[in-house]
Amino acid sequence: MLGMLNDMAIACSCYGLRDSEIAEVIRDGAGSVDEVTEACGAGGSCGSCRPTIEAFLTVQGVRIPVAVG
Ligand code: FES
Repeated sequence: MLGMLNDMAIACSCYGLRDSEIAEVIRDGAGSVDEVTEACGAGGSCGSCRPTIEAFLTVQGVRIPVAVG
């Protein structure tokens, strides 16, 4: 997964956090969006990056994708 990340991509523009920084927080043990927010702030302002954080949690195997429909 980490090899697929663009290290310059900004995941959370409110806090200027890159994809790789969010991934690192998850790798260090954050297991939910709220825990990521607590650890680095991402998702704690406008909230528009919260779906991206959810996707990172899923891709990194923290969350199991749920089928919809
Ligand atoms: S873009 Fe992450 S809280 Fe606004």
